[in-house]
Amino acid sequence: MACSSSFLHLLAALLALASWQAIASVPSPLQDFCVADLNSPVRVNGFVCKDPTNVTADDFFKAAMLDKPRDTMANKVGSNVTLINVMEIPGLNTLGISIVRVDYAPLGLNPPHTHPRATEIFTVVEGTLYAGFVTSNPDNKLFSKMLNKGDVFVFPKGLIHFQFNLNPHKPAVAISSLSGQNPGIITIANAAFKSKPPISDDILANAFQVDKKIIDMLQA
Ligand code: GLV
Ligand code: MN
Repeated sequence: MACSSSFLHLLAALLALASWQAIASVPSPLQDFCVADLNSPVRVNGFVCKDPTNVTADDFFKAAMLDKPRDTMANKVGSNVTLINVMEIPGLNTLGISIVRVDYAPLGLNPPHTHPRATEIFTVVEGTLYAGFVTSNPDNKLFSKMLNKGDVFVFPKGLIHFQFNLNPHKPAVAISSLSGQNPGIITIANAAFKSKPPISDDILANAFQVDKKIIDMLQA
């Protein structure tokens, strides 16, 4: 009897642990680090660990990436996102964090997008930006702020957000941390109108309640 009750306790503890692991987005590290072996053929959720005896300081380092202004004229929205994730710094593997620099042209927009695997904490380092995020259905409430140099704003995980440089004369720059080694970016317009293969214009016309011609124009 005693034996079967301790077995049940053990089973309950294991189940609790397993369900906790299943809901946690980033498991707690089980060692000091697990530097990604980007060349391993083994597929796991994240990357397998490189042999720790071969790990060097360079696995946790990226040379002068974030101090340089980026070209904001290469696209029509006038912004440029430089993401440093686990592919750039293999030491980020399992640590649940990454960083991004965003450059905005005068009147540049970082268009509505979401990070499926991260919350974002955003700091303006140059200029003034209008930023916001929208809550999920049914409210779809917009939370927005004017942000000046040094201001910090949070975009909760999975919610659609954007930033717009309202200044027609000056560029702006922001640095963000994201709570994932590989946060992912889904740009709403691209997902809706530039999927491969395209979503049928019947479906999009119905979803957006507009004429199919407008959808064809947006897809083009
Ligand atoms: C800013 O929101 C970014 O993710 O680039
Ligand atoms: Mn973002």
